[in-house]
Amino acid sequence: MDISFTQASTWEGRTFRNSRSLNVASRAASDMAFRVSRLLARRGALVTSIEPAEPLFGHSVRMEEQLQQGIELIQADLTTARLDRQFDAVVANMVLLSIDDWESAFEVCASALRPGGRLIFSIDHPIVSAAHNEWRSEGRLCISNYIQIRPVPRPVATDFHRRLSDYLNALRRHGLWFERIEEPTLPSEALADSDAPPHAALLQHLPPFVVVSAVKANQ
Ligand SMILES: C[S@@+](CC[C@H](N)C(=O)[O-])C[C@H]1O[C@@H](n2cnc3c(N)ncnc32)[C@H](O)[C@@H]1O
Repeated sequence: MDISFTQASTWEGRTFRNSRSLNVASRAASDMAFRVSRLLARRGALVTSIEPAEPLFGHSVRMEEQLQQGIELIQADLTTARLDRQFDAVVANMVLLSIDDWESAFEVCASALRPGGRLIFSIDHPIVSAAHNEWRSEGRLCISNYIQIRPVPRPVATDFHRRLSDYLNALRRHGLWFERIEEPTLPSEALADSDAPPHAALLQHLPPFVVVSAVKANQ
């Protein structure tokens, strides 16, 4: 179950038709595989997708061979990637939180945008990344330290807790204007879904993600 993108209206209203879009970190390990790139392509975007990790990149290649959506795939680390063209939109769904040197990644995303182009990124809501790990089973958030930036070990990788202000204040440093922020929650009808997590009821009142859009300044 993924609500970070599918329910954010920053995303929902946009057609992306004929826009040149860059999707960073296309994770392709599950049935949800490669979903943001595919969603963009279905909406008419010309999609370029970056993923550094070999198994995930390999899976994306196989998916694209199967589905033939015209998605260009690049295997690269976002902190050092060199992109030789400009994009109308850069989408970074749940990626910046996984990168230690996230400001370098942010800089690559911002530089890849044409003036007026849009960066859309989502992260774990900082109230969630600041909470003690047991929050899912306890049914409530317990936070004792929001301020300290720190690694958050996860089962498959390490994410990082940062303050919302760290991300929002970085926009101006990278030539972007804040446009909109959303805190999507789970709609009640999703509680009946077979893949609803045990703490789904809590997610009706507590937004697990933040989705931000920002526009590249004209200089
Ligand atoms: C939580 S997953 C999210 C993936 C995907 N965007 C999605 O919506 O499912 C984090 C992703 O960040 C990628 N990642 C981690 N470090 C990265 C880096 N330095 N450059 C680019 N991607 C990175 C991982 O390979 C993984 O695909």
